[in-house]
Amino acid sequence: MNLVVVSNRVARGKANEPMTGGLAAALLPVVEKSGAIWVGSSGRVRDGTQKEPFAEIEALGAGALAMLDLPAAHYGGYYEGFANSALWPALHSRADLINASQDDYLSYREVNAFMARALMRFLKPDTAFWIQDYHFLALGAELRDLGVTQPIGFFLHTPWPARAIVGGVPHHRELVEAMLAYDLIGFQTQDDCDNFLGYLASDLGLAIDNGVVTSPYGTSRIAVFPIGIDAEKFAQQAAKAVSHPDVSRLRRSLNGEKLAIGVDRLDYSKGLVNRITAFDRMWTLHPALKRTVSLLQIATPSRGAIEAYGNLQNELAKLVSDVNGRHGEVDWTPIRYLNKGYSQTVLAGLYRTAQVGVVTPLQDGMNLVAKEYVAAQNPADPGVLVLSKFAGAANELDTALLVNPHDIDSMAQTIATALSMPLIERRMRWEAMMAKLRAGTIQGWFSDFVEALQDTRDDLDAIEPPVAEPQPPASWPLRSVG
Ligand code: G6P
Repeated sequence: MNLVVVSNRVARGKANEPMTGGLAAALLPVVEKSGAIWVGSSGRVRDGTQKEPFAEIEALGAGALAMLDLPAAHYGGYYEGFANSALWPALHSRADLINASQDDYLSYREVNAFMARALMRFLKPDTAFWIQDYHFLALGAELRDLGVTQPIGFFLHTPWPARAIVGGVPHHRELVEAMLAYDLIGFQTQDDCDNFLGYLASDLGLAIDNGVVTSPYGTSRIAVFPIGIDAEKFAQQAAKAVSHPDVSRLRRSLNGEKLAIGVDRLDYSKGLVNRITAFDRMWTLHPALKRTVSLLQIATPSRGAIEAYGNLQNELAKLVSDVNGRHGEVDWTPIRYLNKGYSQTVLAGLYRTAQVGVVTPLQDGMNLVAKEYVAAQNPADPGVLVLSKFAGAANELDTALLVNPHDIDSMAQTIATALSMPLIERRMRWEAMMAKLRAGTIQGWFSDFVEALQDTRDDLDAIEPPVAEPQPPASWPLRSVG
């Protein structure tokens, strides 16, 4: 099989460069090894006058990385507009933040169609496409329109919310119908999968049999594939990274004080305001914890041109400064707050230095920081993970201290509990989590999905012989955009 992986953001093969977001960082080592072609945005735009989409192609392990310049006229409407101001908020159950115009939707569809045309150059008889994330919900349908009959899979890295919230997305029906052009649709958790199946049954009136749905496109299989990490490799990286200059400087600066760490993209789904408020509450309720623990919060900016992100950045800067102003001393800063990205290597060392990892999103598809924090710990003296029950990772990491990020008092108490947890309990909890991480690696995730995509097609081809001429779906108005 000649695999083509597609995502909006791609990563280059350098372990010591900062990376934004779990998706690109997680895919890099597996795509590199698989020999696949990884296609995504170059982050640059170009006007639409040239005939062929412009792609910069470089080697990536056994395969290649192709970075496309996306069409200038549609990039803003696609990325800041529909993808990140309609889909992202809705998928994270923030329908109140949906803010996208009809033009944004048209641009989103144009960029999906543009990507489909660009992918044709990689099409061979034995190609399989694996499309990643909410930027490309309609890409499978666009590929089918171009006559592609090869297997096409899709994986959603974010949650899939309840029906009522999906209903708040402009053109939701058209988009979900377009998704059924995929042979296999993967979700992070069973809840996401159930929500999606619920929408198909209730809003589209489709019959579902054992995770298989039949639509005018044919059959699609819907299943759960929780994404993992390479825990062993991360553990080794963390053990080595403790001598990295940034990590040693951090350790020296602590003067024996304990450290809690949070590492997130600066995003409203991450619950950063609630988290900082919980630390504020903890130092108020337990003044003895002042000077004995501080928080290192790394909040890497992304999508800064979107108003909701700018507002959040301002709100957080003010909140951190208030908390530091109230609890700080001449020689003690309660919260070290950094708006920049760090490499995986440095992060691994920072996680190992911290006695508590705080991962408290309001909603999150998986949250690989939670898994990385666990993998980075010293087995002889592991730290404690405080984890939101609304992160996909909570399904597997159920021996973390699970919290409701909306309940500030209880979060404050839980962080205090984490700080005083005896070694024996820390080890028991950590060992149970490590066993889960070892059982669900990123390599396993990748090969399970690719195998399931192949099987899905083998099964389907056995039932219905491949259609010689691509047929437009019988009844759905899939392309309202020219
Ligand atoms: C999340 C999304 C990814 C995205 C990443 C970074 O992890 O699921 O698709 O790439 O955030 O966001 P950005 O908009 O900066 O690429």
